[in-house]
Amino acid sequence: MQSYTEKTALVTGASKGLGEALSRELAARGAHLVLVARSADALRTLAEQTRTTHGVTTEVIVADLAAPDGAKQVADTLSERRTELDLLVNNAGMGALGPFFTQPLDPNVQSVGLNVTGLMALTHHIGSEMLKRGSGGIVNVASGAAFQPMPYQASYGATKAFVLSFTEAIAEELRGTKIRVMGAYPGATDTGFFDHTTATMDPKAVSPQHAAARILDDFSRGRATSFPGGTSDRLRTLVPRLLPRSRTARLAGDFNRRAGHHQGRTL
Ligand SMILES: NC(=O)c1ccc[n+]([C@@H]2O[C@H](COP(=O)([O-])OP(=O)(O)OC[C@H]3O[C@@H](n4cnc5c(N)ncnc54)[C@H](OP(=O)(O)O)[C@@H]3O)[C@@H](O)[C@H]2O)c1
Repeated sequence: MQSYTEKTALVTGASKGLGEALSRELAARGAHLVLVARSADALRTLAEQTRTTHGVTTEVIVADLAAPDGAKQVADTLSERRTELDLLVNNAGMGALGPFFTQPLDPNVQSVGLNVTGLMALTHHIGSEMLKRGSGGIVNVASGAAFQPMPYQASYGATKAFVLSFTEAIAEELRGTKIRVMGAYPGATDTGFFDHTTATMDPKAVSPQHAAARILDDFSRGRATSFPGGTSDRLRTLVPRLLPRSRTARLAGDFNRRAGHHQGRTL
């Protein structure tokens, strides 16, 4: 895909943060939108704004992608409406914060439902339609957290490691077809990601608008990976390849302890 003009893109987690920025940037580049998240009002407001500002068509699908039937509900709605997608952006994600054993299990389970099962199921439903049609693109938003274990964000790091491995594997399966898959690995991005936790965002975080533009540029250039935070985020992924895994876990633990995550919790 060289250009987004007149393409139809579905963005999950479009109600705020990086997903909202990706949706606005896609509309500015001429793409029609299907906006998915749980917050109906925020999605409808965004749909209206992008439609009037950029003259693109916009659809809203309100769905809980962490629910067992969430992805199927989205796929069924698309097929009822006969909406064909050129691009799927699996962006919705969340993570539990704090020491694993002394905090409630629920947010951990919720993050596996959204970041792993929901992403995989939606990719299967929509990617298989793309394969039948012979064209399309998929962008999976993982995280820099994918490349090493993340003490005090243990399940979050593990879900993003899944997205990294899954994305690379399906990209290889699809080599030689007209379906392209890219993984995006943001570093700290100034969104409400930590809003439901005791943590605050790194003051050096990049803006979601910057990250969104970089991700879309990288995808349209045919890249397999996108590091929208810049070269230092890409270089940091080399460390776990060079050190023993236990040493890497210790370093990541030190980093997250300095950020106060060992005393953090999901609210
Ligand atoms: N911010 C960062 O520093 C950072 C760094 C690396 C990677 N990332 C990744 O970037 C992606 C976007 O995160 P963000 O920073 O933009 O976070 P955010 O501001 O918290 O936005 C998360 C989005 O996901 C949606 N969502 C949450 N639970 C959902 C569910 N059960 N079903 C459907 N949608 C759901 C939310 O919408 P509703 O609440 O309306 O459902 C919202 O639109 C995530 O995959 C995250 O892991 C973020």
